[in-house]
Amino acid sequence: MNARILVLTLFILNVGCNAVSTVSLEQQHAPLPELVEQPVDRVELGRLLFWDPILSGDRDVACASCHHPDFGYADGSQLSVGVGGTGIGPARSLSDASARRTTRNAMTILNTAYNGFTLLQGNPRSTVAPMFWDNRSQGMEAQAIEPLKSEIEMRGVHYGRDVMIAELLSRLRHNTTYVAAFESVFGPGDITETHLASALSTFERSLVTRQSSFDRFLRGDDRALTAQQQRGYQQFVRSGCAGCHSGPMFSDFQMHHLGIKDLVDQPHDVGDGQDQFRTASLRMVSRTGPYMHNGRFGSLDDVFEFYDEQVDRNTDPLLADVEPPFGSARDDVRAFFESISDGEYDRLIPYSVPSGLRPGGGQP
Ligand code: HEC
Ligand code: HEC
Repeated sequence: MNARILVLTLFILNVGCNAVSTVSLEQQHAPLPELVEQPVDRVELGRLLFWDPILSGDRDVACASCHHPDFGYADGSQLSVGVGGTGIGPARSLSDASARRTTRNAMTILNTAYNGFTLLQGNPRSTVAPMFWDNRSQGMEAQAIEPLKSEIEMRGVHYGRDVMIAELLSRLRHNTTYVAAFESVFGPGDITETHLASALSTFERSLVTRQSSFDRFLRGDDRALTAQQQRGYQQFVRSGCAGCHSGPMFSDFQMHHLGIKDLVDQPHDVGDGQDQFRTASLRMVSRTGPYMHNGRFGSLDDVFEFYDEQVDRNTDPLLADVEPPFGSARDDVRAFFESISDGEYDRLIPYSVPSGLRPGGGQP
């Protein structure tokens, strides 16, 4: 048993949770461990690409249009507007009559460096980490290419799915600032899809919140959590939520059927008719509403109500005994959620990007 897990066990004993003997290693919560440091030049190249609308068909959308630091690297919207949108966050709207919203809620990309991480399995290699609400993509590098090819998110209608990456690489190869930056990071030679994916995902891996109050508490700072937050954690475990929201990420990264239907019936880019979704990580949960894969719930209260009244309890043994909190216990759990959402993270927005376009895309 390493020190971190011991601290956690003591914590559970301290707050008097009787579950200590039954909590398996798989289910225990733990602070986010330090990662291998990412090379700074690659992170900074990735940041420029992340903010540069040059990577969208019509040069109007960037990754940051939907994953913005002001909204916990999500976008605060139920469903997202990519191509044909203006503005940021919940105020982002369809400026173009032909524009469509995504069929899924934009998830935060904070801490995706830990996707798939459980104490029993460890942190999976970044090439196999589960990605998206339905785990349909493996690895951050592979994931980073998908939005570029998605018609609704970034591609638009002027380039076919099969030629989009070649078009983007050609744009980068014609931009002297990018050519110099890629050469200094990856050495001489043509800019490739692998380089592009590597720079984007290296930047993403640098976006972590290791210093939340909960992490500091588990590392030994007794004053990092208020009494209310400690009660809230205990209540969260007692309510049966930790059965699935387990491990350092508050997710088992398994697929479960809760009975939430997709809101919109237009086909997804990949995988239509899904009825199982990955347990959402609850890290940053106080900052990343609306909730669930389809952004159906606007508030945490709506989520508690859902687990009380609407969840399909028959399909998953882990749901059978779930009893969501009420009244002041609910306030306590909300306070505990704040303690896993208050970690500092990198919010730097580049002043300009090599294309000369507006960082983040869209009009002012
Ligand atoms: C139009 C809005 C939009 C844009 C632009 C966008 N995303 Fe996303 N992103 C989403 C949505 C919606 C999801 C969830 C999709 C799903 O699960 O089907 C998502 C999911 C992700 C995930 C998965 C996180 C996880 O925990 O599984 C990552 C990583 C990500 N996006 C990175 C990027 C990168 C990198 C770019 C730019 C190349 C980008 N996104 C551009 C909306 C967007
Ligand atoms: C059987 C496993 C399971 C249990 C038990 C469970 N959850 Fe979940 N939770 C999930 C899954 C799966 C999702 C994603 C569902 C979706 O998107 O359709 C989710 C999503 C959430 C979200 C939304 C997060 C986001 O960013 O959108 C919150 C909040 C949440 N759960 C809180 C709770 C609470 C509170 C409890 C206890 C009362 C609980 N969960 C019990 C599996 C579970």
